[in-house]
Amino acid sequence: MKYKLIGKIVFNKDISQYKEKVFEFLKKAENEILKGFKNLDEINYKSKYEISDDKSIKGEINTENKSAHIIFYRIRKTLAEHIGKELHIGISSLEIELLNINFPLEKLPQEEISIPFIDKININNNNKTCSIEINKVDKNFITKGNVERIIKRIKEKIDRSYYEGKAEYHKILYESPRKEIKIKDDPTIEMVKKNWIAPASTKGKWIYWPPATNIFNTLEKIVLEELLKPLGFNEIKNSNIVSGEDVWIKTGHLEGMPMEIYYVAEPRTRNTKEWEYFIDLIKITQEIPYDELKNMIQLEPLKGLVYAQCPSIYWAFKGKTISDESFPILLFEKTTNSFRYESGGRHGIERVDEFHRIEVVFIGEPNNLIDIQKKFMDKYKKIFNDILEIEWRMASVTPFYMQQAGDLFKEETIEGQLGTIDYEAWLPYRGSREESEWLEFQNFSIVGDKYIKAFNLKNQKKKIIWSGCTGIGLERWVAVFLAQHGFNIEDWPEKFRNYLDKMPSEIKFF
Ligand code: SER
Ligand code: ZN
Repeated sequence: MKYKLIGKIVFNKDISQYKEKVFEFLKKAENEILKGFKNLDEINYKSKYEISDDKSIKGEINTENKSAHIIFYRIRKTLAEHIGKELHIGISSLEIELLNINFPLEKLPQEEISIPFIDKININNNNKTCSIEINKVDKNFITKGNVERIIKRIKEKIDRSYYEGKAEYHKILYESPRKEIKIKDDPTIEMVKKNWIAPASTKGKWIYWPPATNIFNTLEKIVLEELLKPLGFNEIKNSNIVSGEDVWIKTGHLEGMPMEIYYVAEPRTRNTKEWEYFIDLIKITQEIPYDELKNMIQLEPLKGLVYAQCPSIYWAFKGKTISDESFPILLFEKTTNSFRYESGGRHGIERVDEFHRIEVVFIGEPNNLIDIQKKFMDKYKKIFNDILEIEWRMASVTPFYMQQAGDLFKEETIEGQLGTIDYEAWLPYRGSREESEWLEFQNFSIVGDKYIKAFNLKNQKKKIIWSGCTGIGLERWVAVFLAQHGFNIEDWPEKFRNYLDKMPSEIKFF
């Protein structure tokens, strides 16, 4: 990696009479900094300076394998000490006029790359390098590590172009016994016909009338009685609204899924007087005055509706040191719905913009989590084979937290037990079991220390802790159950019926 920096050191006084001295201190400061580096040959540091005007020096620094911009800012500190003490001169600012970085690429881009903040980008196909140029870089930009992230983003974009269109990672781990299925109905269509469900007032969301709700409740009961209570999990209730800065920047959702988030706006003021004009407009026109509304609401700081339930749960532990006696932490949450803007992908109750899910979160030592995983695998198998009697399978897939953060998944980046297992079921109305796309109706993930680190969770004994979650998608459980068993209650599995309360009668419309 090669760096070239052209910058200016601006002093708070005329330095012309101390020219020699200032250059001497500058050299001294440079030497002191360079002394600290072991691999000086590899850095190949070269610099030249000249007086640019009475109060400033212009310089060019060339380095290899060590950021010229980082060294430049270090010089400031050391130089300021020397000239402050000896000459009573201060440094008012350091300005980077141009930063040029030349770095090797593993792969060549397949299309033109556009990246914010850079003024020039040049790809050299012969020696597989990329050269970028940024003009007028400010200090904050450098100290926040933005330059390094620009390079990372370029490589990521190139990498991504090679992965696009490749089949998703999907390795089958288990297949249930086959079931003889006699129906091929799309459960959503049937449920709408029977007045079990009705579209809600906004797209991709449903109202579940009593019969459908009764099935949701039955499934919840099964999950509670067969799975969560025996394994010692306790229920919590979380908030429906999530902070962009505090949660989604940390988990990566805002860079991975900004196109799927339901954003929430707060009123700019609660003062009735200030809303008066808006109210008048509605009272008179009975229409929504959108232009006026835009003035009355605010998007900052960014908030949105729950996308995945677990991040906000981790946030609640942020910075806390968990006592030893509280491990493993075993929680579940079923109050908040998850919202995803699905647009063209919507279908029935299987692919919705709002869904009901029981999210189970566990935090503990790696061994605890692997043990929990085993227990869940066993219990899920029992529920699906013996109670719901469905045809299903398990597959190892791209970990949800990588997928939701828009990270590229390469198999070798995940070791052993880490990652996501999807549970998928056959929906006969979509076609044959061999050719149709099966429905992912829940997942199970061990996330390692990804969220533990993101939210800085500590523990009393400084042990390694991991976390994991398993999301049980109730709409999808219902869809699978009805798609495989149909609507004739007598045909439903006996153990399921033991959990089922008497079906409420359907509301009749005249
Ligand atoms: N957090 C996981 C997901 O969003 C499981 O619920 O898929
Ligand atoms: Zn989760």
